[in-house]
This record gives sequence, structure tokens and C-alpha cells, in this order.
Amino acid sequence: MGNSSIYVGLDIGTTSIKVIIAEYLKDQINIIGYGNTRSAGLNRGVIVDIDQVVRAIKEAVKQAEEKANIQISEVSVGVPANMLQIERCKGMIAIGNEDGNSKEISDVDVQRVTEAALVQNLPPERDVIDIVPDEFIVDGFDGIKDPRGMVGVRLEMQGVMYTGPKTILHNTRKCIERAGLKVRDMIVAPLALSQSALTDGEKDFGAILIDLGGGQTTAAVVHDHQLKYTYVDQEGGDYVTRDISVVLNTSIENAEILKRNYGYADVNLALGEETFPVNVVGQQEPELVTEEYLAQIIEARLEQIFGKLKDALTQINALQLPGGIILTGGLAALPGVRELAQRIFEVNVKIFIPQEMNLRIPSFAQVIGIVEYVTKENEVEQIVRRTLDGQDVVIEQRNVEKNMRLVEKEEAGEEKETRSNEKKDKETEKQPSKRRFSRLFEKFFDID
Ligand SMILES: Nc1ncnc2c1ncn2[C@@H]1O[C@H](COP(=O)(O)OP(=O)(O)OP(=O)(O)O)[C@@H](O)[C@H]1O
Ligand SMILES: [Mg+2]
Repeated sequence: MGNSSIYVGLDIGTTSIKVIIAEYLKDQINIIGYGNTRSAGLNRGVIVDIDQVVRAIKEAVKQAEEKANIQISEVSVGVPANMLQIERCKGMIAIGNEDGNSKEISDVDVQRVTEAALVQNLPPERDVIDIVPDEFIVDGFDGIKDPRGMVGVRLEMQGVMYTGPKTILHNTRKCIERAGLKVRDMIVAPLALSQSALTDGEKDFGAILIDLGGGQTTAAVVHDHQLKYTYVDQEGGDYVTRDISVVLNTSIENAEILKRNYGYADVNLALGEETFPVNVVGQQEPELVTEEYLAQIIEARLEQIFGKLKDALTQINALQLPGGIILTGGLAALPGVRELAQRIFEVNVKIFIPQEMNLRIPSFAQVIGIVEYVTKENEVEQIVRRTLDGQDVVIEQRNVEKNMRLVEKEEAGEEKETRSNEKKDKETEKQPSKRRFSRLFEKFFDID
């Protein structure tokens, strides 16, 4: 590529692989291509078959390259929050000349102080994914965002260090390299997601971001513009599909279509009498099933996932944060999911849908977040991240505001929203039998 104004985001998801190619032009980021292919070789957010993942990445990248009409060579990828640890880190170096006099702080000094912060006792199975500097301290003067050009004899850096299992990092890198690409950055997925899905106020005052993926559900607590905590529940939208398949005795493919076409996450929104045909295994004629029954299956699984998240979030008092909950990820497109979440978490809930043309579906929020994250990174953050990767530090200067737009034609992904609103307007009925059904379904659910 050799062109620093092209950025490529890659999201290796359990259900699908998403790629976007963005171009930085005249202080603006334009999305010039995207790819989205069915995933293979992942289980609950984690790579389990490198060959299959490589094939899927290649296909998604090819799609995006064809749309953008360019060839890419490096990508910024999200690392899932599984077993993520967030800790504070600190480094200190002497920067004076040999004669003890102070000298101007340079890029190399920022690299050296990062290396000093990296000297920590990490268990052998963990690696550093990212370090985000909070502040630099020069000769005791704190609160410095960029120490370069200043004069001093002692430089300190304080920041947040994110570590993850070596195996996840290794497998992610391996898949990308085997797909013929270079890893430009590895970014903690919820950190990047919060970049695009939360407002400045939410990041500042605090909010909970929930990514409703296919293989897993990830809650991230952001406060003071920092990712404070993550919780991964290894169940997601694909479990909902599996439940529908088991309860209605239909194939996974059919179940997925039923979920998307007739599904509601909140039984109160489904119309009891409304029916749809289901192809049942071993039967010639389709069976008629009510929307209410389908909603009960969906709701029961989601209640279980949200219940586990609520326990974890209550323990750290996160539900008291003023920003409430922001839902995104593929399953956030399911009508009624906001209402159900509001009922269970008892806080204000909203849905985040990206606004970039053609990508107005919540499953694209993650990959858009990755690109926004890397384009907004300032020079000092770039030096710190490149030091982690052992890459030569090449600073990319730009002045990007949150100003993404997609240079393409027609739009997709809004059909679901229409369906949702249409149903919300209809009379909602209370369903006294709901609890009974939830219990009935419990036997189908393997609670880990
Ligand atoms: N319109 C829709 N209605 C209902 N469910 C949907 C819709 N679109 C996508 N989904 C569901 O969203 C899930 C996929 O979401 P997403 O693409 O965010 O997951 P992923 O990133 O591939 O997986 P993960 O993050 O768990 O590794 C699937 O379970 C899919 O059925
Ligand atoms: Mg995902």
C-alpha cells in the first residue's frame, strides 16, 4: 500500500467477518469499500480453526478491495475481550545528556519510556495488547499530554495497559498473515467500539456498552474516557437461533430466517395471533407458529444472558452510571431488544446503529469503531503503540475530526428498523403465561 492515508479495519466475528477500507482525504475519513462474509473457524468469539478463518478473511478483504478498487496490504484488527485484563502501568527513564544536563525530549525518549513501562511481571501465557498513555511527567511536572520538545532530565509515563491471552493474539496475527496481510494495529475490541458507539458525554460521565454478537455478548464499562471493565458472556445471537431450531424442530438456516423475519426479543411486542409457516423436520406440510411463541423462545435466552450481565454489572455498581446502557452488535437489530433490556436492567437503554451509508446495521459498529480509533490516535499514542509492536515508528500527521462518511450509493439495513417501529405502534398485550413458558424452555438451555 505504502499510502498512509488508507486505513483498513478488520473485525473477526463468530458469525461474520467485516472489513472496511477508509481513505483519509482533506481532513475527512471516507469509507470507500466494505466486505462482509460468513465466518467459519470461530467458537464463542475465539479462533479455533486457522485455515477456515484465513479463507473467510481473504473473501471479506476481496469484497472490500473490489468495492474500493484498490489493493490493501495491512489491517487494524480488533482483539476480543475474552480474559482481558486492564491494569495501570508506569515507566520512568533518565533523559539527561551524559554530562547530567537536561535535553529536549524526542520520539525515541517516548519509545524508551514505553519500553520501561512494559517491564512488568506478566504471566507467561499473557501479552500486552495495548498501552494507552494517560499523562507524562517531566521532572515532576505532571498532566503533560505530549512531552516531546520539552526539556528535562527525568521522564515518566503513566497509562493503562491491556493484556490478553497469548494464544488469542497469536492466532489473530497468524490468520491475518496467512491471509497475505500485515497487522498494522491490534486494538482491544470494546475500546474501539466505544469510540464509535458512545457520545463524548457518555464516555466522560460513564456508560455501559453491550455488544450483542453472534457467539458472545460483551459488556464494557467506560468512565472518564477510559475502558474500566469488561465482562464476556459466552452466549450470543447464534444461541437464540439454536434455541429456535431445537424448540420448533427446524433447521438452523430456517431458524435464522425466522428470527430475522418474525422475531421479537420482548413478548409484549409480538402479536399473539399472528402466525407464520415453519418447515418442520420430518413433516411434509409446514406448521403454523405464532409470533408470540417465537418471541417467548427468544426472550427466554436473552433474559438468561442479560441476567448474568446484570449480576456482574451490579457487583461493580456500573448500573448507576448516568449514561445507562447502549446496545449494539448484530442482535441489537432485533425488535424489542431495547424494551427487554430496559425491563431487566432497570436503567435507560438505547440502541447504537452506525450512520455510515450502506453500513446502517449494528453488526458493523465494531469494525467502524476500529477505523475511527486508529484515525483519531494522536502522534504520541502512535509512538507508544508502534513501540509495543516493535515496528519502526512512522508518525502519520493528520487532523481528523469525527467526520466519517461513505462514498457510495444506495442504503441497506434499515428494513428491520421499519418492522420494529411498525409493531411497536400496535396494541401490546400482557402475557400471563410467559413465565410458565420460560420455565418450559429451560430444559433446552445448557447453562454453562
Ligand atoms: N436483522 C437482524 N435481526 C435479528 N438478528 C440479527 C439481525 N442481524 C444480525 N442478527 C444476529 O446478530 C448476530 C451476529 O452479530 P454480529 O455480526 O455482531 O456478531 P459477530 O461479530 O460475528 O460475533 P461475535 O462478536 O460474537 O464474535 C447473529 O446471531 C445474527 O443472527
Ligand atoms: Mg462481534
